[in-house]
Amino acid sequence: MSSAIDPRTAVPSLPQVRKRSLINGDGTRTSIDALWCVVVLAGPEARVEAMLMGLVTRVLSSEPVASLDDYVDAGGGGGLAAARKLGPRAVIDEVEASGLRGRGGAGFPTGTKWRTVAGLASAALPSTVVVNGAEGEPGTFKDRTLLRANPFLVVEGALIAALAVGADRAVVALKESFTRERARLETAIAELQAAGWLDEVAVGVALGPGEYLFGEETGLLEVLDGRPPFPRISPPYRYGVDETGFDPGEPAGTEMAQPGPGGAPPALVNNVETLANLPGLLAEGADWFRALGTAESPGTVVCTITGATRRHGVAEIELGTPLGEAIQLIGLGPRPGHRLVAAMSGVANPVVPAEQFDTPVTYEDMLAIGSGLGAAGFIVFDDETDLAAVAAGASRFLAVESCGQCTPCKQDGLAIAEMLTRICAGEGSDYDLSGVTDRVSTVATGARCFLAHQQQRVVDSVLRLFPEAFDRHLAASQPTAQPEAILPIADLSAGGRAELDLAQQDKQPDWSYDDTDSGAAPADRLAEGGPDDDTP
Ligand SMILES: Cc1cc2nc3c(=O)[nH]c(=O)nc-3n(C[C@H](O)[C@H](O)[C@H](O)COP(=O)(O)O)c2cc1C
Ligand code: SF4
Repeated sequence: MSSAIDPRTAVPSLPQVRKRSLINGDGTRTSIDALWCVVVLAGPEARVEAMLMGLVTRVLSSEPVASLDDYVDAGGGGGLAAARKLGPRAVIDEVEASGLRGRGGAGFPTGTKWRTVAGLASAALPSTVVVNGAEGEPGTFKDRTLLRANPFLVVEGALIAALAVGADRAVVALKESFTRERARLETAIAELQAAGWLDEVAVGVALGPGEYLFGEETGLLEVLDGRPPFPRISPPYRYGVDETGFDPGEPAGTEMAQPGPGGAPPALVNNVETLANLPGLLAEGADWFRALGTAESPGTVVCTITGATRRHGVAEIELGTPLGEAIQLIGLGPRPGHRLVAAMSGVANPVVPAEQFDTPVTYEDMLAIGSGLGAAGFIVFDDETDLAAVAAGASRFLAVESCGQCTPCKQDGLAIAEMLTRICAGEGSDYDLSGVTDRVSTVATGARCFLAHQQQRVVDSVLRLFPEAFDRHLAASQPTAQPEAILPIADLSAGGRAELDLAQQDKQPDWSYDDTDSGAAPADRLAEGGPDDDTP
């Protein structure tokens, strides 16, 4: 019999109460300091404990769900059964009514996206559901945690999405390096296949490169169509997988998907966590979903806390939990003798100073303070952190990962990273600082995707909020520093520490790992048939 938690079970939040241990299923206690992944354990006592701690387990089960039998024993499949009864139109109505917003970073309303994709369905080709599991944002490890804990939930969510938009296949896109998640998923898919769950919708895993842009929705579709992850031109609903646009074989840049005979449908791309919310939502209904969270940000969010906290971890919290409480609950607060000064939501949004840690973790509240929720992966900084080095590290990561299709994004981005690095190394001047300000104002000009805006938002926020961090370097009153390691998380150790992907530090702006950078933009170097077309 399974000890897995029913994915539809919500635990209301009482975040003001603090506990330092969890009750295990067998009655023993586990110190939460020792948990690599902050989740609650099975059983009614654990739910009480979770309630006291402010944790929830709607999508992130406390123990890995070992088999399809265990999943079904715990209520798995109820969402898909309810969706089948409702039919596609009513499913979309229910998702819209729930207010579920995409957890991939942008917070786009899921029901609206589904309705649009369903409306562009083609008579010529069935649609495809793409599960975005390419997680590569520094500070974020929640999708991999979800896939490790319960791949069945994510696949059930994808099957519900497929039913809603009339898709006959679903593809879970993972980075090639995610071997553990791939094994979990493939085993789960084989079980689901054998049990007949996939008779109408084929589900498979697609592997992609390590680039950050592989996670960008249209970069991901490019990879599925056999090309490097170079984002397509906005607006959002372009051809999907196997595009049969006006010029098949060319990057599907500009053509909008068209409904009707002969037109290729857009693919529905949703984040892993977004889809993991669907089984519970459909089984229990929109009102149940809205019982947690706020009117504009209903439900829960799976939050990653890393950086200068006592522990690094991933946990599910109610949307609306104050940021400081999330940091305390998951990260156990500052290291002894230190004071937290700021946190950054991945590398996507402006830094939040500690004075604003009472801000509720919601899309609207984070926006109201001039930041954003992103993928709810918070990198925390304390009084020992060199914020100028943080700006340099984030800037370098983004400049290297820029594909160079838009010249300002690549060139201004690299210039910003270089000037910030010089300042931190004690070799900078006022001229460099004003150069950073100038380039920040132009880096996002004509940007095809959000990455250039991320460069602008992150660097601008540190300049505005912590000007003394740069002044100290210019006055040589601060020890010189290398750019801070703002890198993707390779793994989370059992001891509650994030292991960063250090190989990223050797990556050149041309996306090679050569000793020197060629100076060519990846978009030129790796263009289809180009001389160095070595993209996996
Ligand atoms: C540079 C960049 C990287 C991104 N990486 C990811 C990612 O790893 N996973 C993800 O789900 N979304 C990522 N996104 C957001 C996706 O483009 C897209 O909004 C998301 O997959 C849509 O799913 P949702 O509506 O369920 O959130 C990224 C966006 C940008 C600009
Ligand atoms: S904004 Fe930057 S990352 Fe995005 S497409 Fe343009 S060059 Fe590439």
